[in-house]
Amino acid sequence: MTKRRALILVFLSIFIPITAVLYQRLRATVPLFQKAAPIVTKMASEKPPVIVVGAGLAGLAASYSALEAGAPAVRLLERGPKAGGNSIKASSGINGAPTKYQNVELYGLDTSFFSDTVVSAGTKLSTSVAQPIREHREKLISTLTNRSASAIDFLVELGVDLSVVTMLGGHSIPRTHRGSGKTPPGAAIVTTLLNRLKEKGDRFQLLTESEVTKLLTDPNTGAVTGVEYRALNKVAESETDADATPVPQRVFLHGPVIFTTGGFGGDTHGLLQKYRPDLAGLPSTNDPRPGSHPILSAAGAKLVDMESVQIHPTGFVDPKDPNARLKFLAAEMLRGEGGILLFNGQRFVNELDTREKVSSVIMNLPQSADDEGGLRQWDIQILLDPGACARAENHVAFYMWKGLLQKKKVSELDDVTRQTVKEYAAVVRGEAKDEFGRLNFGHWNLGISGEITGDEEVCIGRVTPIVHFTMGGAVFNERAQILASDIGETPEKPIPGLWGAGEITGGIHGDNRLGGSSLLECVVFGRIAGEEAAKTALVKE
Ligand code: FAD
Ligand code: SIN
Repeated sequence: MTKRRALILVFLSIFIPITAVLYQRLRATVPLFQKAAPIVTKMASEKPPVIVVGAGLAGLAASYSALEAGAPAVRLLERGPKAGGNSIKASSGINGAPTKYQNVELYGLDTSFFSDTVVSAGTKLSTSVAQPIREHREKLISTLTNRSASAIDFLVELGVDLSVVTMLGGHSIPRTHRGSGKTPPGAAIVTTLLNRLKEKGDRFQLLTESEVTKLLTDPNTGAVTGVEYRALNKVAESETDADATPVPQRVFLHGPVIFTTGGFGGDTHGLLQKYRPDLAGLPSTNDPRPGSHPILSAAGAKLVDMESVQIHPTGFVDPKDPNARLKFLAAEMLRGEGGILLFNGQRFVNELDTREKVSSVIMNLPQSADDEGGLRQWDIQILLDPGACARAENHVAFYMWKGLLQKKKVSELDDVTRQTVKEYAAVVRGEAKDEFGRLNFGHWNLGISGEITGDEEVCIGRVTPIVHFTMGGAVFNERAQILASDIGETPEKPIPGLWGAGEITGGIHGDNRLGGSSLLECVVFGRIAGEEAAKTALVKE
């Protein structure tokens, strides 16, 4: 052995053990070095499971339809501690047309859902938009509206009550369905679907506190082959030190993937700030959480309409906590059932115009003074007459219990408001035309058949515009395939092994989503995605 070789051996015999000890110390103390070995889950069946990411309505609908279509198993991964997402908060209902619950005698057969949706989409479907892009968007809207009646049937057959129909802004006739009981529509639909899924036994598994961090792809084809996720409630086994800082377990799961992770309305300082910095300071109805869109982009998906963010005109300002950023929604059905909006006691807008228009009219009014910490709010009153209060009684009871609505006698209202109510009653009676163009008055009955005595009770509360929904998201097609091509680009480039549904997808709603069409898109495209992914799972070994 040469002297040089001997020296190298001595150096290595000292350096390697020291490095090993140092590394073990670092793993025991510094989270960065605690990268646990990933677990690769093994399935009982040879066929892979369908993997659904995000347990809101889109994820639940996709899971159910994948199992119905024969998928060997479904693994539904949810970042939060329970299923539901924003879907469980939905309060006005789900659109469908034509359905047996709509009033055909009064309104005729509903044939205008497609055209209402196109009109609401605004500039994104104007005649100046290139033909291939128009076609792409119109195909999505046709799928949504043509399958809406069967989406309602599907839910009703599962056991959801959707027998009450109301009209929301931008619709030409009532087509938004909810139940007659106390449970709001989002909660009713989510819990029913979840219960039906649990009846599927071992084939269905909901894994909560499981955050998908990456889509696994085949480097040669770009096809999605599964997901990597962090099991937040499971600690990776430390090979070295029992006292080490716990690290969530990393897991690889293989199979076709349906992405249903919702929108980015709650990602205030992330995607919302990136795409709509001008909306800073507006409160939100969405739970604060980061958008998962970058995970799709990293797998090649294109995004569209990311700047189209819906401002809902009516979030409740809680008198006990007026500066709260996360607010309760004053459901649009309150206006649909007859509620009106007032600024300084006077009406100022057709309350059933699209959300985009109503919000923009409000935001052109002077802002209120309570803008603590950059919060931007307006001082608008929502007022329901006894007819509207009665028809929305379950919602009203909840909002009153929360202190968001109060009951007042007409005689207790200020002079301007009392005069407005009187004039509006004359419009509802058909004696005058509404100066703002409102044509449907819901169930308003105050002053309809006689004098207003002043003893009648109205419900009144303060509302303000609020970030509510993100129209943009991953480009997808009517087969719910997520695309690596831009909207309208031909040929389309579906990413093999990847589907999407719900608020994560973009291209349907354009500038403005119609109320009630989000729950609908979750069901329609969730069902399509589930069927398509099941087919793929069945052919794979
Ligand atoms: P969500 O229901 O938001 O579910 C997405 C889930 O994915 C979440 O649980 C989230 O934790 C999970 N997730 C996200 N990222 C990851 C990840 N990386 N790994 C694992 N899990 C992840 N629409 C209507 O049509 N009618 C209504 O009446 C109505 N009312 C509404 C009332 C309120 C207060 C709100 C906020 C919204 C309302 N909407 C309504 C809109 C509608 O509820 C939502 O747009 C829709 O339900 C979104 O469903 P989703 O399944 O796409 O997403
Ligand atoms: C609402 O209840 O006003 C929300 C309905 C929706 O977002 O579709």
